[in-house]
Amino acid sequence: MTLQGRTALVTGGSRGVGRGIALRLAAGGAAVAVNYRRDADAAKQTVADIEAAGGTAVAYSASIDDPESVAAMVDAVHADLGPVDLVVSNAGTASRGSTIAHTDQDEYLRLFRVHALGPLDLVHRLLPDLRAAGRADVVIVSSVLSTQFPVNSAPYTMAKVAIEAAARTLAKEERAHGIRVNIVAPGLVATDMGERLVAATGGGSIAEVDARFPFGRVARPADVAGVVAFLASAEAEYLTGQRVEIDGGGPDAGLMT
Ligand SMILES: NC(=O)c1ccc[n+]([C@@H]2O[C@H](COP(=O)([O-])OP(=O)(O)OC[C@H]3O[C@@H](n4cnc5c(N)ncnc54)[C@H](OP(=O)(O)O)[C@@H]3O)[C@@H](O)[C@H]2O)c1
Repeated sequence: MTLQGRTALVTGGSRGVGRGIALRLAAGGAAVAVNYRRDADAAKQTVADIEAAGGTAVAYSASIDDPESVAAMVDAVHADLGPVDLVVSNAGTASRGSTIAHTDQDEYLRLFRVHALGPLDLVHRLLPDLRAAGRADVVIVSSVLSTQFPVNSAPYTMAKVAIEAAARTLAKEERAHGIRVNIVAPGLVATDMGERLVAATGGGSIAEVDARFPFGRVARPADVAGVVAFLASAEAEYLTGQRVEIDGGGPDAGLMT
């Protein structure tokens, strides 16, 4: 129970990677605020699963790109669970998958709000609590694509690069206040978003492409969650400003990325 006594807020904690992270942090002893946007049933299920395992969790609806709902969520979490000392910025959506030639300004703004400006606003609002904690952590869920720049992905990769830049700066700025800021960068993960990405690139389903990935499978949410729990643990207290790729060591020649 290495996270006993910690209070975590996981954005997009209801489904996919975020659900895996919420379950793992709660199993480590943290009380977890499970943020979601609109799928209340999924959020309720994640909270119920955490409680059934003996943990503590509360669900909060707020779209990360809406400053008013983020402010209300921060106040509600503080009132219910006390000061947050572990933030996982995970909520996210894919871009429409078009070339730059076919992408308009609104699409860039939409992705920047969800992946960069919204998360930064959330962390900004939580800084007083994070600074007061003595030891606090911010973990940003980015993507291996932020260094690969595949075609048809500019709004997504640009937004991920932007939040990574902010995270690396924040890591230096907040070191004096005991806040660690690290980035996890998964490859393909078996989630709803992962399934859509595979289908959109002609791969069929994750079950069909599993065998072509390192270790015979694409990543599962638990693979990302284990690294997040480690980064927030006492064992990682001398780590900040780091970016960990969780992709089985990357594709071999001929493997799908
Ligand atoms: N899956 C992959 O292959 C992969 C690879 C690399 C990186 N990632 C990154 O991992 C993160 C999670 O992806 P995932 O695959 O778990 O996606 P997912 O299965 O589609 O789940 C997305 C989660 O984020 C929430 N969410 C979406 N937009 C939100 C918003 N505006 N405000 C608050 N919550 C919002 C969703 O809540 P609702 O259901 O209520 O909308 C849901 O809980 C994302 O940042 C993604 O970019 C994913």
